[in-house]
Amino acid sequence: MSSPSEDTLIVVKPDGVRRGLVGEIIGRFERKGFLVKKLHMQTMSKPQAEEFYSVHKDKPFFGELVSFITSGPVVGAVLSGRDAVATVRRMVGATKSWEAAAGTIRGDFGLGLTDNTIHASDSAESFTKESGVFFSKTRG
Ligand code: CMP
Repeated sequence: MSSPSEDTLIVVKPDGVRRGLVGEIIGRFERKGFLVKKLHMQTMSKPQAEEFYSVHKDKPFFGELVSFITSGPVVGAVLSGRDAVATVRRMVGATKSWEAAAGTIRGDFGLGLTDNTIHASDSAESFTKESGVFFSKTRG
């Protein structure tokens, strides 16, 4: 039986890249059964980060968010598989890493909030917007 497939975006944040967690993180998704459809490392520009996080533009932590995500290289991947948005979010864990359940990426690898290792799209609409912004300077 074929399973309905969905795409989502994950971005390993600058803390995750600096700490050498890219392989571990992408590997978890591959072992779960997701297909890596796109993979790209870049240091995001300030305008690109402001657009990427535009849903948070009125939040008090917006400046901190943009400054952190542009502080070094990040690795973004489009992952494809069954119920990808919700399944990947479960594997990522709670936003506050110190509260994230053991076994999740944030639960296993950090204690931060702004520096919470990884971003994952929270809906199909967010995926379309965020992947458009993330891959805007790449082809295909
Ligand atoms: P992310 O999944 O990338 O989506 C938005 C990010 O905002 C979130 O992960 C956190 O890194 C960050 N964030 C959420 N709440 C706060 C907060 N109160 N202070 C600073 N950063 C926050």
